[in-house]
Amino acid sequence: MYKLAVFVSGRGSNLLSILKKIEVGYLNAEVSIIISNNNSSKALEIARKLKIQYYIVSNKANDKSEINYIELLSIFSEFKIDLIVLAGFLKKIPLELIKNYKNKIINIHPALLPSFGGKGMYGINVHTAVFNSSAKVSGATVHFVDEVYDNGKIIAQKAVDISFVNSPEEIAEKVLSVEHLLLPEVIKMFIDNKIVIKEERIFLS
Ligand code: GRF
Repeated sequence: MYKLAVFVSGRGSNLLSILKKIEVGYLNAEVSIIISNNNSSKALEIARKLKIQYYIVSNKANDKSEINYIELLSIFSEFKIDLIVLAGFLKKIPLELIKNYKNKIINIHPALLPSFGGKGMYGINVHTAVFNSSAKVSGATVHFVDEVYDNGKIIAQKAVDISFVNSPEEIAEKVLSVEHLLLPEVIKMFIDNKIVIKEERIFLS
């Protein structure tokens, strides 16, 4: 069974889409752990309801209920985590974790990278930037995580036509619906060993 650790900061709709695809048998996987930086994240309600182990992570971790990123390393190895999925996680992943999970951390970004990414480009900010640019296409990108925000190699993308939208919110809605398809598709590619990294490019087989 393929073991996932899913990081979430907010509402958790991408987490739910993964869980649904597991439930219907599309993904032969389990969400073994949920990590959040935000103890009021909706994702934690999902974790409690489904009895999935969860942790609140923080750089400081003063509070006993919180752990730091280094402690996550031993938890991940204990759970034998195969893939780390950032599904709407707003904090930077420390280098230590990236080094230990090279090509095993993926992120979903709600725009077509390499445009509209980087620091500050999250949530409605991304869609406002896309809207104001007058771009006629947006979409979702799943990419590997490296030490720079939204910079790692692109694994897969799905585009949406935004020629006739009237607001950033409308773009967000269209993009979110393809995020919910794309992220489980990419996780399935990992499970089925369909992702091949050759020199500079990632090939899908
Ligand atoms: C998604 O648009 C994701 O791409 C972005 O933050 C949003 C999270 O939504 N990084 P949710 O928490 O999965 O509902």
